[in-house]
Amino acid sequence: MFEFSLLATDSQTAARRGRLTTPHGTIETPIFMPVGTHGALKAMTPAQVEETGAQIILSNTYHLHLAPGEGLVQKAGGLHSFMNWPHPILTDSGGFQVFSLPKKRITETGVFFRHEMTGEEIFLGPAEAMAIQNTLGADIIMAFDECIPYPATHDYAAKSIRKTLRWAEACLQNHNRSDQALFGIVQGGIYEDLRQECARQMTTMNFPGYAIGGVSVGEGLDLLKKVVDYTAPMLPENKPRYLMGVGLPEDILESVERGMDMFDCVIPTRYARSATLFTRRGRIRLTNRRYRRDFYPVDASCDCYCCRNFSRAYLHHLFKSNEILSATLAAIHNVHFYLNMMKEARQAIEAGDFAAFKKNFLEEYGANK
Ligand code: GUN
Ligand code: ZN
Repeated sequence: MFEFSLLATDSQTAARRGRLTTPHGTIETPIFMPVGTHGALKAMTPAQVEETGAQIILSNTYHLHLAPGEGLVQKAGGLHSFMNWPHPILTDSGGFQVFSLPKKRITETGVFFRHEMTGEEIFLGPAEAMAIQNTLGADIIMAFDECIPYPATHDYAAKSIRKTLRWAEACLQNHNRSDQALFGIVQGGIYEDLRQECARQMTTMNFPGYAIGGVSVGEGLDLLKKVVDYTAPMLPENKPRYLMGVGLPEDILESVERGMDMFDCVIPTRYARSATLFTRRGRIRLTNRRYRRDFYPVDASCDCYCCRNFSRAYLHHLFKSNEILSATLAAIHNVHFYLNMMKEARQAIEAGDFAAFKKNFLEEYGANK
């Protein structure tokens, strides 16, 4: 039911072009997965998400467990039918979300925390995360891991990977659906020896795919590149590699170059709601006065629904008037921008010139300006 095939590798970099088959469809990699935390991409209908070229979306165990509860989602026929998204879905395990809560108690078996609304005490560990994700029914589910903060000491990170490895073993034992692929997550902070040890042990467990977690936690692009540099080569070549929570366009392209296949991030949808739009020439802030009489599209080279039909002046007006259509149109454009960048990256890898593509893209985009 799951198959990953490598279709091409770049001639000068570690970039890979692959195809991942799941029960709800095929995913061309490298791919970006837009995020629908509560079972919806904010401000977008599934038809609008489809039109951006999205092949797979991400949703969250933690949020869906708190509301509406996995039991209710199951009654609706599973997450795909509940949210009317018939294509692939990946659910994150909740590891990342509970570890970022202010008041939590971490034990050997999992994490105690309080329900945001009711105050009720809730426990999430590997067994619970698997039961919830098995009930939600996503195509790809994630092991329950500890995402440590940055910075963290070597000693703390070392103890943490051992726990993440024990939890990964428990996840494998509790996973009971053959139509869901369970991915292992490599942690280890910024420490080369720990990343390598965690990757070595995690890969002996024979997961159908592997993620690098614990990045995009404030370490910056230089350290992110280093972590991927020494972790990605430790992961099996014939399995998908997912870089969790990444990132900005430049973060993604640098990581594709280092052999990563899958990415997710709230940035395109979140920035859209604060009027920040991605263009080939960098980001623009549409609430800026300079766009008041700008009748050009957001990005003249973009063929999304927003750019085909509306001007910057109109979007400026919508944002200034707090019209909710502003969030929808901006999200359509930003998600399309990310997915189009991934499409061009795939074409560049097929042509064997990813390095030139990345250089040209980033030059025009003006990253680090
Ligand atoms: N999302 C972003 N980073 C992480 C991580 O380290 N672990 C999990 N489970 N999800 C993430
Ligand atoms: Zn557009």
